Amino acid sequence: MKVLNTVIELQNQIRNMQSDSVGFVPTMGALHNGHISLVENALAQCQVVVVSIYVNPTQFNDKNDLKNYPRTLENDLELLEAVLRENDIVFTPDNKEIYPVEDNREFHFGNLDNVMEARLRPGHFNGVAQVVSRLFEIVKPDIAIFGLKDFQQLAVIKALVSQTGNKVRIIGHPIIREDDGLAMSSRNRLLEPEIRKNASIIYKTISAASAMISDSDIPQIKSFVKNSIGKINQFEVEYFDIVDDTELIPVNKRSEMVIGKRYFGCIAVRAGKIRLIDNIEIGLV
Ligand code: PAJ
Repeated sequence: MKVLNTVIELQNQIRNMQSDSVGFVPTMGALHNGHISLVENALAQCQVVVVSIYVNPTQFNDKNDLKNYPRTLENDLELLEAVLRENDIVFTPDNKEIYPVEDNREFHFGNLDNVMEARLRPGHFNGVAQVVSRLFEIVKPDIAIFGLKDFQQLAVIKALVSQTGNKVRIIGHPIIREDDGLAMSSRNRLLEPEIRKNASIIYKTISAASAMISDSDIPQIKSFVKNSIGKINQFEVEYFDIVDDTELIPVNKRSEMVIGKRYFGCIAVRAGKIRLIDNIEIGLV
């Protein structure tokens, strides 16, 4: 694999490859097997794969979160070395490469701006849209792979691509979990041991919630989720919403769910000082 820091080097390398298909996996580093699984998906579909590692300051609404975000470049490169091929690329730009001038663009995503993460992290998706549109402009990928773990982010990226008329094909990749069910996340390594031990309650609870849809209505399911997680010391549910998979409009009653549409239960939990998100499909039967 080639590790490149500048836009010029990256674009020269991609041009020299003359590849029919460039696959792209954008990340913020602190890589784990969830990221690697996205990379493997890209490798299976494309002649050249670009993995970017860039902690994008514009998407952090909380300065402390940005400061504390884990940075483990050496380990990241080792993990990538084990899977990438000779001509694949790891792109590790600095701020000047991504934002040679300040990015003041404002994006609008309709309902996606009004629910869940958008409400709790103002400006977050605007920053994600800035960096992803900039990275797409640099890499010009044919396909780009994003995890379903960040369910709302995936919907925002699809909206971004359709707004800008970009030809890139966006692929959603399933959530990769630890053995105890906790969704893998770069932030998991910031959890204190006791909290990490208890964090499996999140997946256990949303799995149970998903099964409840056959005989309970949504208000009951929501209070079950809140109580099941809230009773664990230092755990608090910020939201648990059941939404459709395109507009992400929350449904409040089972009777509002439409057969043929897909719904997901999306959760954000405060676990000590760390926020964790997860989701699960809630299928109508
Ligand atoms: P980051 O959190 O590093 O995640 C990079 C990609 O990996 C995202 O598409 C995310 O959904 C996916 N991912 C993370 N954990 C996963 C898991 N357990 N299973 C499956 N996929 C997982 O998301 C970002 O970075 C940034 O917002 C970014 C898109 C790079 C823009 O800065």
